[in-house]
Amino acid sequence: MNGSSRILDNVDRERRDAVEERVEELLADMTLEQKAGQLTQFSAGFLTGTDIESGNVEDAVAAGLVGSLLNVESLADAREFQELAVEESPHGIPLVLALDVIHGYRTTFPAPIGEAATWDPDLVERSSAIAATEAAANGVHWTFAPDVDVTRDPRWGRVMETSGEDPTLASAFARARVRGFQGDDLAGEETLAACAKHYVGYGASEGGRDYNTVNVSETNLREQHLPPFAAAVDEGVATVMNAFNVHERIPASGSEYLVDEVLKGDLGFGGLLVSDWNSFGEIAVHGAADGEREAAKAAITAGSHVDMVSGVYDHLPDLVREGEVDEATVDEAVRRVLELKGALGLFEDPYRYFDEERAESAVLTDGARETARESARESAVLLENDEGLLPLSPDDDVALVGPYADEPAHMLSSWTAEGRPDDVTTLRAAMADRHEGDLTHVRACDPDGTPVDGGREAALDAAADADVVLVTVGEPRRWGGEAASRAHLDLPGEQGDLVAALAEADAPVACALFSSRPLAVPDLADSVAALLEAWFPGTEAGPGVADVLYGDSDPGGRLPVSVPRTEGQVPVYYNHLNTGRPVPEEEEHHYPPTEDETVFCSRYLDVPNEPLYPFGYGRSYADVEYVDWAFGPETVADGESVTVEVTVENGSDRPATEVVQVYTRDRVGSRARPVKELAAFEKVHLGPGERRAVTAEVDAEDLAFWTADEEWAAEPGTFDLMVGRSSADIAFSGAFELVE
Ligand code: GLC
Repeated sequence: MNGSSRILDNVDRERRDAVEERVEELLADMTLEQKAGQLTQFSAGFLTGTDIESGNVEDAVAAGLVGSLLNVESLADAREFQELAVEESPHGIPLVLALDVIHGYRTTFPAPIGEAATWDPDLVERSSAIAATEAAANGVHWTFAPDVDVTRDPRWGRVMETSGEDPTLASAFARARVRGFQGDDLAGEETLAACAKHYVGYGASEGGRDYNTVNVSETNLREQHLPPFAAAVDEGVATVMNAFNVHERIPASGSEYLVDEVLKGDLGFGGLLVSDWNSFGEIAVHGAADGEREAAKAAITAGSHVDMVSGVYDHLPDLVREGEVDEATVDEAVRRVLELKGALGLFEDPYRYFDEERAESAVLTDGARETARESARESAVLLENDEGLLPLSPDDDVALVGPYADEPAHMLSSWTAEGRPDDVTTLRAAMADRHEGDLTHVRACDPDGTPVDGGREAALDAAADADVVLVTVGEPRRWGGEAASRAHLDLPGEQGDLVAALAEADAPVACALFSSRPLAVPDLADSVAALLEAWFPGTEAGPGVADVLYGDSDPGGRLPVSVPRTEGQVPVYYNHLNTGRPVPEEEEHHYPPTEDETVFCSRYLDVPNEPLYPFGYGRSYADVEYVDWAFGPETVADGESVTVEVTVENGSDRPATEVVQVYTRDRVGSRARPVKELAAFEKVHLGPGERRAVTAEVDAEDLAFWTADEEWAAEPGTFDLMVGRSSADIAFSGAFELVE
């Protein structure tokens, strides 16, 4: 399979031939220094990593010693750099310009963890396509997204860039984002080259500390971390980024096993690989290469291609001249860079993405804002709603309290590209627009929970006069994202105390939570009547969240990740193994246990094993019943599928959103198998009283795992089939057989 999915595979015959011809002509004519140049990427503006001096970028571009740039700050700069490359460098090879367009360019969609909470890949494909349109109109060719890391650790700040803990869900979003960014044609003026990152295992950083050691088994690598990369490759992702971490003590960028054997071999990736920020240079810092020259050798020999900012490829020409690296290996890497440029249409017109008029008119359109609003409301997860406190009535007198009601910058989360606070409509503004009763706003403290003078008193005064208190709390946006790990998963500062004090007042308290990660907040959950996890919802934060708070839209979100009760449970995830000593289900458990309770089982003495809220969970305002189901056939062979049909009924007089989730359990395998694995899901919107049959397919190939024979295969046997509204709320279960 090696090298089968080339970047040019999707390019029509005539153009592909022309690009291939040009690439070979260039390769035949380039010096080793110029080849190393094509494999070198510099930052042209702000830094998105450690402080690294790229030297004089203009001179290097004009000399043909740079193949790509990231973080170019404006369209005018982009044009200037491209002119230098095309008009002054020896072969006139255009630059490819990259940027982290993670959840929007100018129009900002919810942070990726929030987008994953929509459980709606089609919606995320649309938002990614909008991001691509806006970015491509502003001179960007290549985005470093999607992040397809799977993580079970909410301490890790980059959980916000992921689709959460489940490989099936993460794979669905990986595909959606690749399709959305890349469209059908990389040369289209509304598409970007995508980049699946970070390859691989980065989501397993020990202790949730960013850039830390990773220690995953082969089984875990294959079953948890690789599937979304396989999905992205299958979807035709043009590029992949190496991770910072080690695998088996070898830095991922220099791992022949990961890059050559698994990514190019097993997964069949034939596109371009780019390092992470300085990750080639860091091979030496890890202590896995003796200095920069050896680091460069390790990276290129492993099969990695482009160096982002480390500069170690200065050594490449000598490594070739001294016989330590084959020139053919370098040529193959350069070929991928040039193929990307060709596929983007840059050989035909290096300036094709530079149109000052479109740069303005293509961004922040009404349609983009509407999709951002839809994404915001579909990502909000209703965690609690005692006595139906929500939705709010527009006639109520509401005390809107807390530091996140009117903080536009925070709503954009981390990785904002061109997102601007001025474009954001906050919750306060959106509510002021539609609320009819009294609406009193008290900020009470800063977003990091630092008290402001008189804040608490003003909040309590407002609460005393209100029918309902709506309190907004959370963690600052920069506490999530890269280099933003936390050991505690609590609400920072005095926010917890503020909510506790408000809860003592007469008016019931609803809470909107803004965060990059699941927070372990059992006390908050206990003290408020209603709790809505809004994540960081983006440009249309206010209107989207208000749509849900007022009940125009049923809360559309379901958790893509388990919410722990306490940091001490981490990692806590739904698709765990049974262990040899599972906790007996029939027994009642106490914390601490009573004397006659079983303790020789896999449990804590002080908290339950279960998370505060399970994977897949999210409440509805409506009353959706799982009425009936059927599935068949009850025996399937390789290449066949089980069709599951579930009838759901909205028993209320309001619209409902339901995410029907299908799980399987492989009862016996050559290796121990998880107690539950998401196999399929369908999000449906039901009108008042509507009954609908929802169909999902479980393919025999979805049952594959990394067997004791070290192959990706499904083993014959009995599989439990479960359907429900979350991983912990199963409405129907049955079983089927997989036969040879
Ligand atoms: C980083 C990140 C990566 C990003 C790159 C370029 O440090 O780890 O996700 O794409 O820099 O900004």
